[in-house]
Amino acid sequence: MEHFYITTPIYYVNAKPHLGHAYTTTVADSLSRFHRLMGAETYFLTGTDEHGDKIVQAAESNGQSPQEYVDIISKLFEDLWPNMNISNDDFIRTTQPRHIEVVQDILQKVYDSGDIYFGEYGGHYCFGCERFYTEKELVDGMCPDHKTKPEYIAEKNYFFKMSKYKEWLLDHIKKNPDFIRPAQYRNEVLSLLESGELEDLCISRPKSRLTWGIDLPFDKDYVTYVWFDALINYLAALGYPEGGKFKKFWPSANHLIAKDILKPHAVFWPTMLKAAGIEPFQSLNVHGYWLIKDTKMSKSIGNVVEPLAMKDTYGLDAFRYFLLREMSFGQDSSFSEEALIGRLNADLANDLGNLFSRTLSMTHKYFGGAIPRPDVEDIVDAEIKKLGQNAMKSFQDFYSEMKFSRGLEGLWELVRGLNKYIDATAPWTLFKEKDMDRLSTVIYVLLENMRKIAVHLWPVMPESSEKMLKQLGINFDPEKVNLPKELDVWGLLESGEIVAETSNLFPRVETPEPKPDDMAAKVSKKGKGKKDKKQGEKTAAENNGIIEFEDFQKIDMRVGTVREVEKHPDADRLLLVRVDTGEDELRQVVAGIADFFTPDDLIGKQVVVVTNLKPRKLRKQLSQGMILAVKSGDGMQLLTPTAEVDAGSKVS
Ligand code: MSP
Repeated sequence: MEHFYITTPIYYVNAKPHLGHAYTTTVADSLSRFHRLMGAETYFLTGTDEHGDKIVQAAESNGQSPQEYVDIISKLFEDLWPNMNISNDDFIRTTQPRHIEVVQDILQKVYDSGDIYFGEYGGHYCFGCERFYTEKELVDGMCPDHKTKPEYIAEKNYFFKMSKYKEWLLDHIKKNPDFIRPAQYRNEVLSLLESGELEDLCISRPKSRLTWGIDLPFDKDYVTYVWFDALINYLAALGYPEGGKFKKFWPSANHLIAKDILKPHAVFWPTMLKAAGIEPFQSLNVHGYWLIKDTKMSKSIGNVVEPLAMKDTYGLDAFRYFLLREMSFGQDSSFSEEALIGRLNADLANDLGNLFSRTLSMTHKYFGGAIPRPDVEDIVDAEIKKLGQNAMKSFQDFYSEMKFSRGLEGLWELVRGLNKYIDATAPWTLFKEKDMDRLSTVIYVLLENMRKIAVHLWPVMPESSEKMLKQLGINFDPEKVNLPKELDVWGLLESGEIVAETSNLFPRVETPEPKPDDMAAKVSKKGKGKKDKKQGEKTAAENNGIIEFEDFQKIDMRVGTVREVEKHPDADRLLLVRVDTGEDELRQVVAGIADFFTPDDLIGKQVVVVTNLKPRKLRKQLSQGMILAVKSGDGMQLLTPTAEVDAGSKVS
């Protein structure tokens, strides 16, 4: 049997859990469930990182002892995970004796083998990162992550001979393409290693400066550097060195992290393992950041997204689906409730929810709720089965490669294909024509495919998946499912079983009213834009982000020359921009660009205007279109032709 060991970073207990922690842990949960259904024995570890300066400072500012403080915050993490349906097998804390023992054991081994030495060192220490930076690594003398000036500290310490393993590490990364993935992070580590000397790693802190840590087994005046301590959690939880779990799961270790902690995981950790005589982990999987309106989440900005608030507002599974569907693994992604609502309404309520409610209600209307026996097969049935096979294969392959978004996109081919299949086969007509044989097959094909979809969705939305299966009369048991077999197996749904009558899985959520500053259309990242759609019309999100050429042709965009600009009398952020678009009169656009441009900046400029947008009043001023602009960093740029053109020229 295959094994699959998945870990999250152990989170610092200096802050409460937020969206970022929830994302990594949800991905780990989803992977653990997925590999379980693929037939592997899985082990899923998360936990908390509780030593170091940061924690002492956080405890002090809270008026608590470090131990009291870490107990409270660690519990917040431990209690959050069941609320998010996270199925971790273990939760490790670095203050637990089982962890401390293994850290000391490894330190002693590496010390005995001669790879730890005592020396003097002066370096730029960032308290935020809890690490020394070399001159070269600083950006304008500042910590590249915290943008603060590190403190120069010179002291005697213990060092790990990391430099000794540079060539080995380079070679290992080159020979194992999946050791660090996606490729951009692998390349980043390769160029870091190839561009210069790999320094030795300072692995101790004198107790005169920090006592909250694990004692070095060979010098009681020092505690262990928090990263050397923390990384070892991945072994400690498996009962290294003798534990059965270690022997079973270690060779299949998959670590999941964000890009912020790439170097400790991609450089410190494999070299530490090598020095301790332990084989390397299998794969380091690195994702990007969730950003809020293009900025990092931070307590001081007040834009921290709390996972439980999202769960309460939109439902846990919609939140989980969004996280997995929206982020391209490895890239940064913007989080917004608008984009979440877009996905919830389009993919879940519309596509998936409708498929379930339509089919279940037809099964009741035409067969009294009993799953019919398939009878007359048609070419469309073979086609949809083939589509289903391809969609499931695509889901399974992409998921195995950590490409969750593409996997879900693949599976939705089947969801949408089935909705089209309903329209094409028109069961209501078959019923009217009393063609019950054909109708039986159509309904069976739908229900059996829905079963397959529901099973594949267990790693993504476990609760909804189980509900969907229940609606199809099945009590879900993960031990009985094998996803690869689902590609070929057909007909597991038993005819005669009664299905549920209704299926209100994902109620629609109303999109909040657009704010005025959306009138300056931001050429926005995928999923960020407001939707402006009539009932019944499909949006781009509903269609996988793709629009038809005809849809694009509907938009009339013209280059216009700005002739007059004035401030909106009632709104500081709006400007009234009057543009010559080659018509008899100037066209007035109310644009939310006053934070970025003065009227004088704009007069005479050529801009791109969407001219066939339905006119509307914004704060009592008529707006006849939209000016295209790009938000970039803290500023904004207007779209303009590279050379002057006639006012009114069509953009195509
Ligand atoms: N304690 C160390 C990890 C030690 S592992 C041996 C640590 N802790 S942390 O609390 O700062 O967690 C960092 C991790 O939280 C990231 O690597 C990522 O998994 C998650 N995230 C925190 N903020 C994030 C985003 N804004 N976006 C996505 N994930 C982020 O570093």
